[in-house]
Amino acid sequence: MIIVIVGASYGLGKAISQLLVKKRHRLFLLSRSIRGVDFPKGVAVKIPCDVRNPKSIQTAFKSIDNRTGTIHVLINCVGKGLEKTLEKSSDKEIEEIIETNLTGAIRITKEVYMRMLKQGFGHIINVSSTSGKKAKANESVYCASKWGLAGFNESLRIEAKDKKIRVSTVFPGGMKTNFYARSPAKDTSGYMDPKLVAQQIVNILETEPSITPSELVIERAG
Ligand SMILES: NC(=O)c1ccc[n+]([C@@H]2O[C@H](COP(=O)([O-])OP(=O)(O)OC[C@H]3O[C@@H](n4cnc5c(N)ncnc54)[C@H](OP(=O)(O)O)[C@@H]3O)[C@@H](O)[C@H]2O)c1
Repeated sequence: MIIVIVGASYGLGKAISQLLVKKRHRLFLLSRSIRGVDFPKGVAVKIPCDVRNPKSIQTAFKSIDNRTGTIHVLINCVGKGLEKTLEKSSDKEIEEIIETNLTGAIRITKEVYMRMLKQGFGHIINVSSTSGKKAKANESVYCASKWGLAGFNESLRIEAKDKKIRVSTVFPGGMKTNFYARSPAKDTSGYMDPKLVAQQIVNILETEPSITPSELVIERAG
């Protein structure tokens, strides 16, 4: 399959990419710093892309179009965290979270969706968070971005149903990734290994095409 993974340079997106490379899928890996990440040549094409910048998205998709006329799957893992009370969140931080987690995800999804409409099939997987289902103190802005993404994706799933385009939303809990780089004091030792979560997402895209896992919540056991 031909798979576009956005946010592939670290954490969950990188773990998914590493699993899919082994399965010999053809991958287009996007993120701002993707050029610096090691992936085997010939299987993965690395394309720099900033989802906050519409021109950067257009350039990235031109580059994909020059190499393929088909996209079977989109996996969007882009995300930024913000653990702050609302009164301590600056306008710049609020803008960054909403633009990255929500507007950026919608822009990327639209680019792929337009291509999937033309080809008449496809599967879109957007990664939200358990913070896109459960309200959490000190995460109001992050929760807004992830609830927004979940609402967008579920609406698109219904819209796309008769077009042979499947849409799934993943809601992971805490994972041990770069995500908490801005909160170095946070104890993430009990959080999930992103490789285990990645395997669950690979299972979604391998689901038999006549069914859609519309929502998957992945939480720590215990
Ligand atoms: N870690 C957790 O505990 C946790 C829990 C629940 C949900 N999630 C969600 O899971 C997803 C993956 O998170 P993670 O833990 O893997 O985070 P991560 O390690 O920080 O990775 C985030 C990825 O997003 C990319 N990214 C960030 N801003 C971008 C932008 N403007 N344009 C393009 N790419 C951008 C980063 O690449 P560049 O910096 O190279 O652009 C990186 O590849 C996110 O949606 C996150 O919200 C995470």
